[in-house]
Amino acid sequence: MNAKTILVTGGTGLLGKGLEETMPPGRRIVSLHQRDYKVAGSKARHLVLDIRDKRAVDRLFARERFDAVVHAAGIASVDYVQKHYAESLESNIVGTLNVTSAARRAGTHLIYVSTNAVFDGTKAPYREDDPVRPVNKYGGLKVECERLVRETLESWTIVRPILMYGWNHMVTRPNPATWIHEKLLRGEEVALVDDVRENPLYNLQCGRALWAVVAKRPAGVFHLAGRDRVNRWQFGRAVAETFGLDARLIKRVKSSAFPSIAPRPPDTTFVVARMEAELGVKAMTLREGLAAMKAAMTARA
Ligand SMILES: NC(=O)c1ccc[n+]([C@@H]2O[C@H](COP(=O)([O-])OP(=O)(O)OC[C@H]3O[C@@H](n4cnc5c(N)ncnc54)[C@H](OP(=O)(O)O)[C@@H]3O)[C@@H](O)[C@H]2O)c1
Repeated sequence: MNAKTILVTGGTGLLGKGLEETMPPGRRIVSLHQRDYKVAGSKARHLVLDIRDKRAVDRLFARERFDAVVHAAGIASVDYVQKHYAESLESNIVGTLNVTSAARRAGTHLIYVSTNAVFDGTKAPYREDDPVRPVNKYGGLKVECERLVRETLESWTIVRPILMYGWNHMVTRPNPATWIHEKLLRGEEVALVDDVRENPLYNLQCGRALWAVVAKRPAGVFHLAGRDRVNRWQFGRAVAETFGLDARLIKRVKSSAFPSIAPRPPDTTFVVARMEAELGVKAMTLREGLAAMKAAMTARA
């Protein structure tokens, strides 16, 4: 039997790495990214392609057949989007339109990767059908992309991962766990806020949930998150404890200490009942996720 091939746009990011590392037998990944680099030790076939280039996206879909598309590419830094809105519109809106149009014409199921930033963070915990109300430009673009997916595609699923952590490919941006780990290893102080809360998601748990979506093709929206509701300061302390690093370097501050960054919703904790019941994926605790990261590091050493 031929392996089923999944196209993952933005496949070199943290989410894409989680997908790769949890890939079930009989599946193959074609992964897209835009910058010119090679990815070491990857199970996916990588293509350099900018999703803002409609002709390049159309040519890819004309050349290859995919069993599903996971559309994760785009500018995923909240602060970068806030400061570079025109560029972000091109990557996140035009790029998404190019990918969704090609998937629609090919009749391919599309899984759109949205975010917890669609909510304003005042009425947690959030269910999938709660009204969206973003407080920053990144969240606003995701709301528009969700609408685009719902209104133009016949076969779609929207997943909303929350704050993700795990080992990223060296070529892509760090995440809160790797960033805190690196700073503490170097003996540097880290200021972390205690007034922004999420239930953080380990990227391999995210990968497992996405493979369940690929297999079942459920319609609608799924919240993907871990079990524990923590603020960023508590998150940092858990990283220090897991990796045996000095937690005294972690300073507890309020968001008002960072006036120049994009506004963050204060509490976007998700209800994960739909993920657990319909995708069959159990929400991991933060300790379980960090312990899995530590085990992966030890196995690599
Ligand atoms: N990380 C989180 O905590 C989190 C939470 C909620 C939702 N999400 C969403 O999940 C998705 C994946 O996030 P991530 O953290 O894995 O992302 P990431 O690590 O920042 O990686 C972004 C990926 O998108 C690619 N990309 C960006 N612009 C592109 C373009 N114009 N054409 C082709 N590829 C492009 C990047 O390729 P290059 O490396 O070549 O630039 C990279 O592969 C995003 O949609 C993000 O908004 C993430």
